[in-house]
Amino acid sequence: MKKFVKVLSSPNMKAAAQRNMDVLPQYQYQSVVIDEYLKTAMKGKKYFIRTYGCQGNLRDSEVIAGILEKIGYVLTDDVMSADIILLNTCCVRENAEKKVFGEIGSLKSLKQKNPDLIIGVCGCMVQQEHIVSTILSKYQQVDLLFGTHNIHQLPMLIQEVLTSNQRICNVLSNQGDIQEDLPSCRASSFKAWVNIMYGCNKFCTYCIVPYTRGKERSRRSIDILNEIKELKALGYKEVTLLGQNVNAYGKDIEDLTFPELLEQIALIGIERIRFTTSHPWDFSDELIDVIAKYDNIMNHIQLPVQAGDNEILRLMGRRYSREQYLTLVEKIKTKIPTASITTDIIVGFPNESEEAFNNTLSLCEIVKYDSAFTFIYSPRVGTPAAKMKDNVLMETKKQRFNKLTAVIAKYELEKYKTFENKVVKVLVEGPSKKNSEILSGYTEDMKLVNFKGDISKVGQIVNVKITKAKTFTLEGEEVDQ
Ligand code: SAH
Ligand code: SF4
Ligand code: F3S
Repeated sequence: MKKFVKVLSSPNMKAAAQRNMDVLPQYQYQSVVIDEYLKTAMKGKKYFIRTYGCQGNLRDSEVIAGILEKIGYVLTDDVMSADIILLNTCCVRENAEKKVFGEIGSLKSLKQKNPDLIIGVCGCMVQQEHIVSTILSKYQQVDLLFGTHNIHQLPMLIQEVLTSNQRICNVLSNQGDIQEDLPSCRASSFKAWVNIMYGCNKFCTYCIVPYTRGKERSRRSIDILNEIKELKALGYKEVTLLGQNVNAYGKDIEDLTFPELLEQIALIGIERIRFTTSHPWDFSDELIDVIAKYDNIMNHIQLPVQAGDNEILRLMGRRYSREQYLTLVEKIKTKIPTASITTDIIVGFPNESEEAFNNTLSLCEIVKYDSAFTFIYSPRVGTPAAKMKDNVLMETKKQRFNKLTAVIAKYELEKYKTFENKVVKVLVEGPSKKNSEILSGYTEDMKLVNFKGDISKVGQIVNVKITKAKTFTLEGEEVDQ
């Protein structure tokens, strides 16, 4: 029998695109309040979360887990035995959405077997009108939809599902407040994600993120620094500072700039500091200097270029030219000779000619990236690029994609080879995915190493001598010095 839908609010991408620069972020410090009824009803029930997309979503899932555990749920990694299943979704490309619809479809049989099971879909996908209406009309098994701006309302929403016996939709499309003091269950006990800002104001023409995540808004530096001090006291070895454009940190409030914040974090003395993503447009000289100055700021710089052709960069709304990007890379390499530079590239953007694509290839030949994420352009409903004629044949896009990945792989292997016979520092993550007798972890400049070592060292930084370089990994063995 079909249940009614109770819509508390639904997304509106036009509203999501508004940016009122006079409105400062509102900081909320009250922790979530949980009704006694809900605590009693859910005590000991099991939760399962599947996360798609970027580190921002991984961090949100840690907060969702924290809230669920505060209600009384316990974690299960067996989806079949869960009492609540949440899919924290991504819509940055069509493939990501397809995977989620496949997963929602496969959960139908679980819901039929157990009508008390709660299935919720949250994250970026549900910030889009057309996705919400598809889920509500075609996927009756979904009980709850909530967005990226109202994770803190989860206890109230679960309670609504239980007491109203209706399907609940509550997706806000405002510019977004900042919720501090939410509980969270971190996935790791030695490396942590730390949001320093939310949202994005860049509106690159192909990208859905500014619509799904709201206005660019910075956390107060005091809150960030306190969080990192606590992590250090708990024994964490590594923090990764998160934002869609970390170098825009502090531009919306009276507080530190990103280089100043980074310096304060370095002084806390946590062993490894990473940050992602930095937009080339506001990557300042001060930032390069701070990275160069502190040993505990890792010299891995993710610097998305997207394209190497000026006309395509203009159509993408990226706000820099090929020449400006190359000048920035040169500056970074001069001041930080050991810098590892990685990137994101989109091929097959509307109007990408063979010449334009060759410009992207030649830029890669000049920069010689340590590695790159490469994507075929995927039109996103509601973005300006989706209105441009998608006039590059899929066949051509695939050929270009293959050519590009070959060039990236060539320089990646070349760079990885320079590590052979050298000793590197690796933060040990655990047994490798492919072989449980081999450990894996990342070097300071973010290279994955599989090595023979001592399992008791998980969570510690060890020395590994590299014996062999492959295209995407290094192999080695633990050594004393
Ligand atoms: N804020 C980050 C990127 C977040 S999205 C930045 O600006 O660097 C991660 C990557 O997905 C982007 O860098 C881009 O390469 C890719 N991407 C985003 N939208 C896309 C689309 N519509 N089609 C294909 N790739 C896309
Ligand atoms: Fe998307 Fe551009 Fe913002 Fe990155 S900077 S999230 S690519 S709009
Ligand atoms: Fe995806 Fe949203 Fe992150 S669209 S990449 S999960 S910000």
